[in-house]
Amino acid sequence: MSVLAGQTAIVTGSSSGIGAAIARAVGAAGANVVVNYPGGHSDAADAVVADIVAAGGAAIAFACDVSKEAEVDAMVAHAVATYGTIDIMIANAGWQKDAPFAEMTLAKWQAVIDVNLTGQFLCARAAVREFARRGMVPERSRALGKIVCMSSVHEVIPWGGHVDYAASKGGVMMLMKSIAQELAPQKIRCNGIAPGAIKTPINRSAWETPEAEKKLLELIPYGRIGEPEDIARATVWLCSDDSDYVTGTTLFVDGGMTLYPGFSTGG
Ligand code: BGC
Repeated sequence: MSVLAGQTAIVTGSSSGIGAAIARAVGAAGANVVVNYPGGHSDAADAVVADIVAAGGAAIAFACDVSKEAEVDAMVAHAVATYGTIDIMIANAGWQKDAPFAEMTLAKWQAVIDVNLTGQFLCARAAVREFARRGMVPERSRALGKIVCMSSVHEVIPWGGHVDYAASKGGVMMLMKSIAQELAPQKIRCNGIAPGAIKTPINRSAWETPEAEKKLLELIPYGRIGEPEDIARATVWLCSDDSDYVTGTTLFVDGGMTLYPGFSTGG
């Protein structure tokens, strides 16, 4: 059964990594998909669109820097012009700009906060405005709209050398919960997903050599590095009516990374 049949989803940052897997999965679940990527032309975004269409779905690519208010509003307007409305916003776009704390430039800090946190604010706000304009469509979903905020295990695990990133994800958690609290009476659901170590370009150095992979696996009780599809399946569930009573929560999809594995033999 296509749990998202007839719905439209914007997936930010979906030309690669976790976002691309999510775009394919929500497309396979029946949603029309807007495959967002940061700018210019993207063969990678076109390839994700082609995959969705080849699987029998509907998708378009759309360039937009999620940290720019006018661009985000234009993206939602374009989705509405193409598909009639949006039902789902998956605020996934994010990046890392790592540095030891004393050497972290304001430019790095700002770039990470702008995309990872302000970008999610702008996307969620534009989605909420469209949900309210469109109104309930009970045959499509029990909710007026669904927002999924891509967080990280680093919304709770402090991360030296990545202070900007951890701060952005801690912010994402409270953004998500506060939106959920404010808008539940309007039947808008807002949840987060906290991936652990997922094999994507963002953390290539952490898994690309056997030595790095062995070290990384020490942090993962379940004994494997995650795949983008692990996150995509969880996202489809959070967007569907199967999770209709779930709002304001972070779903950790991390192979147990947040279980403090060091304490399994120590402490
Ligand atoms: C980061 C990855 C990291 C993982 C676990 C993610 O949010 O983007 O680089 O491997 O958290 O530490």
